[in-house]
Amino acid sequence: MIPAAPVWFDALHVGDVIVGDDGALGFAYTENWLATEGAFPLSLTIPLENGVHRSEIVSPWLANLLPEEEQLYILTNSLGLDRADTLAVLNEVGGDTAGALSFGVRSDRSAWAYTPLTESYGVADPEIALERHFEDLTRRPLLVGEEGVRLSLAGGQRKSALAVLDANGMPVLRLPDDGDILAIPRHGAPSTIILKPDNPILPGIVENETYCLRLAKAVGIASAEATVLPAGSRNSICVLRHDRRISRTGALQRVHQEDFAQANGVPPGRKYERGTLRGPDLATLLATGRHLPPTDALTLLDQLIFNILAANTDAHAKNYSVLLPVGAWPRLAPLYDVSTVLPWPHVVQYFAQNIAGKKRKPANVDARHWDVIAGTVGYRPADVRKRVQDLVDRFVAHRVAVTEAIKALPGSSGGYVEEAAGLVEENALRVAGRLRRKENSGYGCGSRG
Ligand SMILES: Nc1ncnc2c1ncn2[C@@H]1O[C@H](COP(=O)(O)OP(=O)(O)O)[C@@H](O)[C@H]1O
Ligand SMILES: [Mg+2]
Repeated sequence: MIPAAPVWFDALHVGDVIVGDDGALGFAYTENWLATEGAFPLSLTIPLENGVHRSEIVSPWLANLLPEEEQLYILTNSLGLDRADTLAVLNEVGGDTAGALSFGVRSDRSAWAYTPLTESYGVADPEIALERHFEDLTRRPLLVGEEGVRLSLAGGQRKSALAVLDANGMPVLRLPDDGDILAIPRHGAPSTIILKPDNPILPGIVENETYCLRLAKAVGIASAEATVLPAGSRNSICVLRHDRRISRTGALQRVHQEDFAQANGVPPGRKYERGTLRGPDLATLLATGRHLPPTDALTLLDQLIFNILAANTDAHAKNYSVLLPVGAWPRLAPLYDVSTVLPWPHVVQYFAQNIAGKKRKPANVDARHWDVIAGTVGYRPADVRKRVQDLVDRFVAHRVAVTEAIKALPGSSGGYVEEAAGLVEENALRVAGRLRRKENSGYGCGSRG
């Protein structure tokens, strides 16, 4: 067995990915990390214990850090690596990952550097520079191959992770404001925002996702801070990273996180429940809340309800995450990657998990199904129904204000905002309507299907 990739949290050596004689990957924490006060585990599935953690857990955990689908395909092709060779790919791109860890190369603060997009693309207009950046990403996912850039993020959408600098060139943890500068992090520097450009296959996705995330916040569910960023002839959604923080001394730091595929020990290919090898079902996702404080477990239920009400059918296990901060209990990460599928009939309309034992579309969610969901976590059905109704009421109450706020953002197109808002509300009201109908007709009696 040979240590093949050191794993770093800032300058601290957390452990090593190890390759066995048979090529199987393992992971071992360093003595130092195990003795460090406030040390966090890589994963809820990889506890802070001596010895080599097994490949069955470690391999899928690592694979979940990499991009997926076409993004992984183009990236590995340009690196001349096999898609299945997770460790080799991570050694190339695993400098700035989801969470706090850097693979291979130590993150040395004195080497951190940021290059403004305008400088990188040699254009004065920041919007045009961003447009060029998005074109660049079609050839080089996550800027693979760019000197000093080692970035990895999961997901199938084209995306970038950049840093926001203030007018003095200092990194700041906020969505870009007037006078701020977007910059490419290099040599171990952390990114602070994630950007996803528009996508002709999913028209209006930028407005759609921004609407859903801001609606969630408006109804009281913590969600990624999101805005629309114009980029010449196109636009993009920009979210603030929740796995970054500013320390008391003003230093930018990474905060560890893992997604629910990682927290449940499944590889990225099993993020959906459907498939020959089944991924996590709703009960498993909700049961992940047992690691969280009770208020966060309730928020997890809220996130799940929100995704059903908003018809976010793509809410698979990688679209829920848990934060593993230094010296503190695990917390639920804010809601992220939410869009309503309803404007796109060509995209799979079934939810990522079965609801009450069957695959279902948003229009088919019935009162009885909420009772089954409640039962899986031991909540009272009446409480869950009440929570659903309460959230629907809030959807309606906040629709206009959220719609107007997003329509007013430069780069957003009002028609798409209205479309997403209308479809989300229609879906939520349909769900609420069924809730009432069932209650009036006698709870639990004569239900079908
Ligand atoms: N606001 C955020 N803060 C920190 N990490 C995030 C945030 N949003 C997304 N991520 C991470 O980036 C990954 C990809 O982002 P996501 O929006 O889910 O992209 P995609 O639409 O391609 O699935 C997520 O799985 C998660 O690990
Ligand atoms: Mg996602």
